[in-house]
Amino acid sequence: STACRDSGTVAETIIREQDELADICWDNLGFGLVPTDQMYMSKCSTGGNFSKGELQRYGNIELSPSSGVLNYGQGLFEGLKAYRKENGSILLFRPEENASRMVQGAERMCMPSPTVEQFVEAVKLTVMANKRWVPPVGKGSLYIRPLLMGSGAVLGLAPAPEYTFLIYVSPVGNYFKEGLAPINLVVENDFHRATPGGTGGVKTIGNYASVLKAQSAAKAKGYSDVLYLDSTHKKYLEEVSSCNVFLVKGKTISTPAIKGTILPGITRKSIIDVARSQGFEVEERLISVEELLDAEEVFCTGTAVVVSPVGSITYLGKRISYGGESGVGVVSQQLYSSLTNLQMGLTEDKLGWTVEL
Ligand code: COI
Repeated sequence: STACRDSGTVAETIIREQDELADICWDNLGFGLVPTDQMYMSKCSTGGNFSKGELQRYGNIELSPSSGVLNYGQGLFEGLKAYRKENGSILLFRPEENASRMVQGAERMCMPSPTVEQFVEAVKLTVMANKRWVPPVGKGSLYIRPLLMGSGAVLGLAPAPEYTFLIYVSPVGNYFKEGLAPINLVVENDFHRATPGGTGGVKTIGNYASVLKAQSAAKAKGYSDVLYLDSTHKKYLEEVSSCNVFLVKGKTISTPAIKGTILPGITRKSIIDVARSQGFEVEERLISVEELLDAEEVFCTGTAVVVSPVGSITYLGKRISYGGESGVGVVSQQLYSSLTNLQMGLTEDKLGWTVEL
């Protein structure tokens, strides 16, 4: 059953774990942690390779107080999703893209990385071990969170002597509290997310803690999130705290070019290809904040946010609205549908982006 009631006794929990579907309320999932059954863990010493990892019960992990990740932020994360298909199988979306992004990020953070093959196999194993947590069709997806961290002890600033690759999962629904309704952004003028030569272009954990202050201030004022400008000229659009940004004007779609300060999103890259295949001109370039004034639609992309229409952006106290009365522009809506239909296996995957489990 999918009853929305108390979780019951330990014995009942164990019995339910053999069920097809976890016994939770699947309606109105947001983007919050739901503990699942199993997590994957593999370790590696400096100069070595990652061991064949193992599944273990999901739960707290033991870490040295002087681990590299806790003391100096030597850590990366990834995010990808699994969808349940009507026929019962499960679809992953471009997992090898996350794997190669982790390989690249690990190089920047002086960490060894699991190979692309190890990463993808570990993701498959973890998803299958938590199959009953993949939401029913139409209720959301299973968010997969791989972590790579310096787990060995250090005191002086140096790469850790040991690394842990871990994967846990959680069923999720919409990322923003607005649900599928358009979000309202504010352009940040005081804080920056990334600097040239820094780590903005890799998925290091530190990039995310550093945006919390501006994000909290924006949320306190009723905005959904913050849109960052480049730190050199304080003029060009970069990204939102947790996603990339796109502007639409007629048949032209533009997004900030990847140049070291912007996270190379897999949804970003996929939307560029999907839009081009539908006859849009897609430009990756410098986009001045002034261009927000004559965009017809703005949307954000990310694994967590999928394609989120932007209803308004406030810049220097001036609010600019997008997407007409509903706030959801036709192009944003069309690209959202094309992408999610592909991810959910509702349209033929001509590009070979999905992996069926
Ligand atoms: C994702 O979209 O998967 C991310 O990693 C962003 C995160 C802040 C939720």
